[in-house]
Amino acid sequence: MSAGGAGADGKVDHLGQYAMREIHLRKQEEDGELVYMVIKNDGEEQNMIWLVNLKNIFSKQLPNMPKEYIVRLVMDPRHHSMICMKNNTVIGGITYRPFWRQNMGEIAFCAVSANEQVKGYGTRLMNHLKEYVCDKENMTHLITFADNNAVGYFQKQGFTKDVMMEREKWVGYIKEYDGGVIIVSHDERLIRETECQLWVIEEQTINEIEGGFDDYRREVLDQLGEEVFNPSVIANQAIQQ
Ligand code: ACO
Repeated sequence: MSAGGAGADGKVDHLGQYAMREIHLRKQEEDGELVYMVIKNDGEEQNMIWLVNLKNIFSKQLPNMPKEYIVRLVMDPRHHSMICMKNNTVIGGITYRPFWRQNMGEIAFCAVSANEQVKGYGTRLMNHLKEYVCDKENMTHLITFADNNAVGYFQKQGFTKDVMMEREKWVGYIKEYDGGVIIVSHDERLIRETECQLWVIEEQTINEIEGGFDDYRREVLDQLGEEVFNPSVIANQAIQQ
């Protein structure tokens, strides 16, 4: 096999095609036609415009994902997005959430516009993302729950079905959408064993808990501590007056 050109029989071989594609894309990046960058919702108007464009691509390319859910995550300042722009137009991106304590990022959405797919942009996006999270965010792992039809793409990017990192680091941090079940429960054992994403429903709102059950319990105990402590302070003050 020759790398990057025609084989002995005159045909451009497989490895050659890959190398040619890579060279072409790198050249476009050097010429500034293709730009990759990480942005988030930080109040900057331009970033907001790009995030809206990216959100529209996700909504089209991930039709099974609720649109409100996509908007919420893409616009959530805790999520970051690596975007790919071609001649100043967003053509794809990857939205992920860094979990700093675990040195891990969870990829929530990944998509390229329909007319730009299978041209190598998805691969370049992932390569830029890996480089960025490693160099700038000190991440050692990226995890995701891939749609069945995208498993092939993720495998080509070096993802495996077996998670190599310690279980405690990722369980409870990865979301699963297809066929997901919502359970409303007060049963601690059940919640722990289902290893689910936790949401708390109170006062007609629903909020995601960052972390696992123990983080939630700590939060509740802190709140209870305040409630138990404060009346006694007030009672003590009343006695002293
Ligand atoms: N299944 C299997 N292989 C795929 C798929 C797929 N759905 N898409 C691309 N590939 C392969 C390509 O054929 C290519 O193979 P090659 O390197 O041997 O030629 C390789 O993966 C890389 O292809 P790229 O051109 O770099 O990828 P592309 O720019 O098409 O982006 C992506 C891939 C993001 C999956 C794009 O096709 C897309 O937006 N699909 C629709 C949305 C989607 O399914 N997103 C992922 C959902 S899961 C999630 O978001 C966590």
